[in-house]
Amino acid sequence: MKVIFLGITALLGSIKVNAHLADEVGFDVTLPDDENELGAKVTFLFNQGEVLSANVGATLNLHEADCEEEYNCQIGNVTLTTTAFGDNGYTITWESLDVTQTFKDCFNLTGANWFGGPQRYTQTWPLEAQILDGSSPYVIKKSDNFAVAERYWLNSKGAYIFIDDKVPLFVDQNNEEQGLVCFIAKAENPYINRTRVLLQYTVVLNENPKVAHLHAVNNVLGKPKGHPNEGMIREPIWTTWAKFKRDINDEIVLGFANDIVNNGFTGQVEIDEDWEVCFGAHVFKEDKFANINETVSGLLCGSTHLLTTTVRITLRTDLKKGYFVKNVNGNTTAIWWESEDAHQIDFTNPEAAEWFSTRIRALLTNPGVDGFKFDAGETDYAIPPSVYENVDQEEIPNCLTKSYIETCAEFGDLIEVRSAWRTQEYPFFVRMIDKDSVWGEDDGLYTLITTLLQMNMNGYTMVLPDMIGGNGYRQQPNVELLLRWTAANALMPAMQFSYLPWDFESDEYNATEIVRKFVKLHEDYADEIIKAMENSIENGTPVNPPIWWVDPTDQTALRIGDEFLLGENILVAPVYIENSTERTVYLPAGTWTDGNNGVTYNGPITILDYPAPIDVLPYFIKQ
Ligand SMILES: *[C@@H]1O[C@H](CO)[C@@H](O)[C@H](O)[C@H]1NC(C)=O
Ligand SMILES: *[C@@H]1O[C@H](CO)[C@@H](O)[C@H](O)[C@H]1NC(C)=O
Ligand SMILES: *[C@@H]1O[C@H](CO)[C@@H](O)[C@H](O)[C@H]1NC(C)=O
Ligand SMILES: *[C@@H]1O[C@H](CO)[C@@H](O)[C@H](O)[C@H]1NC(C)=O
Ligand SMILES: *[C@@H]1O[C@H](CO)[C@@H](O)[C@H](O)[C@H]1NC(C)=O
Ligand SMILES: *[C@@H]1O[C@H](CO)[C@@H](O)[C@H](O)[C@H]1NC(C)=O
Ligand SMILES: *[C@@H]1O[C@H](CO)[C@@H](O)[C@H](O)[C@H]1NC(C)=O
Repeated sequence: MKVIFLGITALLGSIKVNAHLADEVGFDVTLPDDENELGAKVTFLFNQGEVLSANVGATLNLHEADCEEEYNCQIGNVTLTTTAFGDNGYTITWESLDVTQTFKDCFNLTGANWFGGPQRYTQTWPLEAQILDGSSPYVIKKSDNFAVAERYWLNSKGAYIFIDDKVPLFVDQNNEEQGLVCFIAKAENPYINRTRVLLQYTVVLNENPKVAHLHAVNNVLGKPKGHPNEGMIREPIWTTWAKFKRDINDEIVLGFANDIVNNGFTGQVEIDEDWEVCFGAHVFKEDKFANINETVSGLLCGSTHLLTTTVRITLRTDLKKGYFVKNVNGNTTAIWWESEDAHQIDFTNPEAAEWFSTRIRALLTNPGVDGFKFDAGETDYAIPPSVYENVDQEEIPNCLTKSYIETCAEFGDLIEVRSAWRTQEYPFFVRMIDKDSVWGEDDGLYTLITTLLQMNMNGYTMVLPDMIGGNGYRQQPNVELLLRWTAANALMPAMQFSYLPWDFESDEYNATEIVRKFVKLHEDYADEIIKAMENSIENGTPVNPPIWWVDPTDQTALRIGDEFLLGENILVAPVYIENSTERTVYLPAGTWTDGNNGVTYNGPITILDYPAPIDVLPYFIKQ
């Protein structure tokens, strides 16, 4: 083995870092002994300890590297550059003007826990056990629930990797090779029309994952500049979708609202899918909503709150030229959940975005809604490979999601979106993508917790959990699932119902009373939620962090994916297993008071068989 000290190397001490850190941060590069073997091994060090290791340049013979200056190398027509990033990081750039070039740098996942990564259909936590197939592009897509997927991997040793926006990125994790996450750059569909291939990323090293994540939020990810409207935080949102699906009209919406009010609940009503003349028309259907003005005024009197309404961005048949995303053949036909005859508005075209916004704005006065549920926005609703002429070509295809979210931002803090891309700054809720009415890791109740953690650790801290009890997909929820879901959701930022508890019968308990208890718990903690949001705006802290946030060196806490925090002092451990009336609770360091009975525990401690009958949510408050 030989350790080379050439450009890629940057090497300990040779990059100008803060004097005080100069001895603590660095990396070593080792070329393979065999002259014909490709790639090199890189070890990143912090305080003399290895915190990250990688096999870089997997497609290149780095023995042939010609490094005239310390951090600038040429390998054939590939250029490698390494620069310092702040006091404790490096930006590594592989670049080639030969667009057939592929780059591949793989990081070893073993020996640490990992956080960040994409929203998934099967959402496990921490991240290191997930499998990602590198043949699929790492872009914002509906497929596999990738609606929030920043290019961010954080490990428990305090290192993070953030991949540049312009990289035509594919990620292969635990797939081609177990224990590795490989960042691959190649100019293939949907990354069209490129003039170079780029693999550029920043590695930052810190003493622990909390310091590292805050560094990431404040330097690369971004953080919110405001929080959602308090109405949406404090009181439930009642949506027509899961209960009624498309079977809605004036009478049903009013009846739904009256039912809610008569049972003693308040909040806002959301009219979901199928109120429009046609999808994307944004005008109420006459046959279903002949009296929409009266319906809206009825809602505003009855529940004294707002009406949000859903807006789909996919149109069935409107032929405005140039407003729809086309592919390289000029075809604009897109496929979505309703039909194979749709067109995706090109929000990167300011005129097309305005054409959309004008109709949305009109709804604010006629019939007078207050806010919107902005659905979809993922890039795979547009026909591939999509052409976007008004943008930096290296931002294709995620530019679609970003420009959509920027368009929605005009409508303020009383809205929700469900896709995101580099849009952490906005003061509105990002909703988890639709959940199924099941218990498990397969988009069920368990993933309410793991998706909450994933979104927070992508820098999206204003998270709107999806509908309580799921959407009725795959099956209808039963009363037990509905109630466990309600409890699990109670200390998350907002509660969104569609299924109504009084529609569920139980011989054993009164579902309505139990739901009332958890809605009250949520209301009691609304000030804490808002405080956590203000802290997020100020400092970049997650609103709902994983529990290791309390002690980022706690090896047990680092592995836990079925508990979460609200702010920094409230730990929540929901029951998410069918027929269970107890669960194991882990409390990290600190003195914790049981929110249900005032018992005090000194952490770290594992509480086996914590009793949690159907009306109990285990939660603990740190002194
Ligand atoms: C890259 O180098 C190869 C040969 O090493 C050459 O065939 C190719 O034309 C070069 N590409 C560019 C864009 O310079
Ligand atoms: C990852 O690192 C571990 C040691 O921590 C080592 O045993 C393993 O072989 C490495 N994996 C790969 C794929 O290089
Ligand atoms: C609803 O009210 C708006 C103005 O407030 C009016 O322009 C519109 O015609 C009314 N719609 C119906 C169906 O009466
Ligand atoms: C446009 O794309 C759609 C969906 O892929 C396809 O069905 C249709 O045949 C295409 N139209 C033309 C003219 O190529
Ligand atoms: C490729 O990008 C250029 C600008 O860099 C643009 O003018 C052209 O329309 C794009 N072509 C396609 C097919 O997207
Ligand atoms: C549940 O309690 C409410 C009072 O809050 C009562 O009106 C209702 O009848 C009860 N339901 C059942 C099924 O007992
Ligand atoms: C839960 O209990 C019900 C009723 O006893 C039973 O049908 C179901 O299979 C149980 N589910 C699990 C996961 O044990």
